[in-house]
Amino acid sequence: MEIIQSIESMQRRSCSLKRSGKRIGMVPTMGYFHEGHLSLMRLARSKADIVVVSNFVNPTQFAPTEDLDKYPRNFERDCHKAETIPVDIMFAPRNEDMYPEDFRTYVEVGEWGKKLCGLSRPAHFRGVTTIVLKLFNIVQPDIAVFGWKDAQQFLILCRMVKDMNLPIEMIGGDIVREPDGLAMSSRNKYLTPEERKDAVILSRSLKEAREMIERGAMEADVLKERIRKMVNGAQYGRLDYVEIVSRETLEPLSRVQKGESLIALAAYFGEARLIDNIRY
Ligand code: PAJ
Repeated sequence: MEIIQSIESMQRRSCSLKRSGKRIGMVPTMGYFHEGHLSLMRLARSKADIVVVSNFVNPTQFAPTEDLDKYPRNFERDCHKAETIPVDIMFAPRNEDMYPEDFRTYVEVGEWGKKLCGLSRPAHFRGVTTIVLKLFNIVQPDIAVFGWKDAQQFLILCRMVKDMNLPIEMIGGDIVREPDGLAMSSRNKYLTPEERKDAVILSRSLKEAREMIERGAMEADVLKERIRKMVNGAQYGRLDYVEIVSRETLEPLSRVQKGESLIALAAYFGEARLIDNIRY
């Protein structure tokens, strides 16, 4: 696996790969790989000639009060894991090259950035779209793979690609879970053993909602109330939000619409803010 740090080298490498007719598949990440990241790399591997993974903890998507400094990092272990896929190129730029002091331009996401997770993280998605557009311009992928774990992020980025006419095929990979159902996340590391045990309530409440829907309970209010009770009933759980929205518009739905709905939630367990969702 090639490791590239310089933006110019990455751009030159991508240009020459494309000139020789190679299809580039890209997986943007902030590192500290778990099976969720690796599943996206495998998906990219199955669809492209060359797989590029970016590994960059992006400061502009963290608020000053958030966990940027604490965010877990282990570059050497990431490289070993990526090699098993195998990934062709790991792009790991330096912060000062991505955001020099005179950096000024951001990608605004409008209303969608204020919904769901945007309510408690108002500048987050603007940081995400900005870094992902920069990464796309450097790596020039034909295909980009993101996880449904971060459903709002994926939908916002698909919209950016459409609105900005980027010639990139966007692919969503399913959520990879721990054996007990907890969605894998780098932030699970922050959980104490007791909180970790309790956090299984997130996936369990979504599973319960799915079962209720399959029994005919389509009312959003009823489903949300059940999820709220379950999550807040856990000793360490504090629900931030649960919403049932259209995957097309991100607007709230009063009734679940088959094939169109996203049930998304975020909750605090001690220090950690965890998210999960299901599509129906
Ligand atoms: P990061 O949290 O490292 O996630 C990288 C990719 O892995 C994202 O597309 C995310 O949705 C996906 N992912 C995380 N956990 C997953 C799981 N359990 N199952 C499936 N996919 C999972 O998301 C980011 O980084 C950043 O915001 C980024 C897009 C790289 C921009 O900085």
